[in-house]
Amino acid sequence: MVCLGNICRSPLAEGIMQNKINAKKLDWSVDSAGTGAWHVGELPDPRSIDVAKKYGIDITHQRARQFKAKDFDEFDYIFAMDASNYNNIRKLAKTEAQKEKVTMIMNWEKPDMNQGVPDPYYDSDGFELVYDMIDRACDRVVEKIGD
Ligand code: 4NP
Repeated sequence: MVCLGNICRSPLAEGIMQNKINAKKLDWSVDSAGTGAWHVGELPDPRSIDVAKKYGIDITHQRARQFKAKDFDEFDYIFAMDASNYNNIRKLAKTEAQKEKVTMIMNWEKPDMNQGVPDPYYDSDGFELVYDMIDRACDRVVEKIGD
């Protein structure tokens, strides 16, 4: 799960997906990262922590890290939150196969629309919407590729 800072959207996406993995007992591992390095080592944004908690998900063990090329080897799917993240991740890919691992997460719900999960950093009211969008997309991911 990849966004820009790895403090708002992708930590929520990691927590939401981990929650579904646990519920369905899927043999998956999920992680999150940011394309930028400004917030490396930080906890998720308190507003993300709060909205996750509201839905029974604890994300306070997470710490921000930057996406690295090695992630292409370690993960089968790389979910970008928006088009900017998508383009920046794909620039780091060395092969077509690596590029193909990258998708925009909302395309799992609305194929080919290239809808971005809006960056809520400067919009405190946006976190609930972000949670809801990611939750719906993760449900589709589990339906499509879950065992
Ligand atoms: P995120 O949100 O990409 O969802 O983690 C942001 C967090 C920090 C910044 C931008 C977006 N920032 O500019 O520091």
